[in-house]
Formats: sequence, structure tokens, C-alpha cells
Amino acid sequence: MQVSMTVNGEAVTRDIEPRVLLVHFIRENLGLTGTHWGCDTSNCGTCVVLMDGQPVKSCTVLAAMADGHDIRTVEGLVVGGALDPVQQGFMEEHGLQCGFCTPGMMLTARALLDRNPHPDDSEIRQAISGQICRCTGYATIVRSVQWAAAHPAVTDTAADGAGTGESNSEEVTA
Ligand code: FES
Ligand code: FES
Repeated sequence: MQVSMTVNGEAVTRDIEPRVLLVHFIRENLGLTGTHWGCDTSNCGTCVVLMDGQPVKSCTVLAAMADGHDIRTVEGLVVGGALDPVQQGFMEEHGLQCGFCTPGMMLTARALLDRNPHPDDSEIRQAISGQICRCTGYATIVRSVQWAAAHPAVTDTAADGAGTGESNSEEVTA
């Protein structure tokens, strides 16, 4: 079957098998390996991408279900060569160690800040509660998102085109 969607602002069309998951479509058909695949149980959340601005676990979505939709991966956080404040925040506050969970964490954070520019720590923790970090710990991740919230000046371009994302774990598990 043929699927068409917008990925990081570019229209893509591919012939795929109907059973292909969105995470594999993104990684293998499009070569965007920033989206990680970390489990077979829909628990880890490292595969999170934004679909129409909403965080979704791309291992729970068929590529066919994304037909006609707007997908944003971690590669799409950089706009015009400028890092998204969330990416800067993870650098400033040491929000990653091995980095495996980081793409999904950053996309969930981006969606949260698009919806709620000034979340408190509990709102950040709720937003990422469907995602697992196995090494850094969550304190620095929360601080990273708070850093991004405190530096909104550069979000004008970085958030351009981003939709309003929901943040709770139930919606992340779409
Ligand atoms: S790969 Fe673990 S939740 Fe998707
Ligand atoms: S930074 Fe290693 S799993 Fe989160």
C-alpha cells in the first residue's frame, strides 16, 4: 500500500506493507534514526514522535494510520539551524546520559511547552510519566524542561509549525 504524510515539514510518499509500524517506517524507510525503538511492550516511550502536535508512541501506531498526518521527529526540532530550547535545556542541565530516551523526552517536552509554556515540576513529571529513563534520573530532565520554559525567546522559530500537544501519559500511549 502507499502512504503519504508530512515528516518534519517535508511531504513523503512510500510503498509499504500494511503491517509496518510507524517507528520502523520512520527509521527504516525514511532513515530518521533519531527515533529509537526500545521495547516490545509499549512501555519505554523512547519511540515518541509528534503526530499533529500530539505525542504518540510510534511503536503503537501503524504507518498506515499516519497517512495524511503531520509527523515531527527529533530531527525536526532543529529549525533553520537553531536548536530548540528543549534541546538547549538538555545540554545546559545535563538532561541526558546515554541519550537513548532523549529524543522521546524532548518531543514530549516540546508538546508540553507548546500547550503549557510554564509548567510546574509536577506537570513535567506527569507529561513524561509514560517514558522511562534508565540512567540519568528524572531530576535533571525536569530541570532541562524548566530551562527551556525559562528561555522562550528562541522558541519563535523552533516551535514554528508545531501543534498543540497534550502532555499526559494516557495520550502519549495513543
Ligand atoms: S519502543 Fe518502547 S514504547 Fe515504543
Ligand atoms: S539518558 Fe540513558 S535512558 Fe535516559
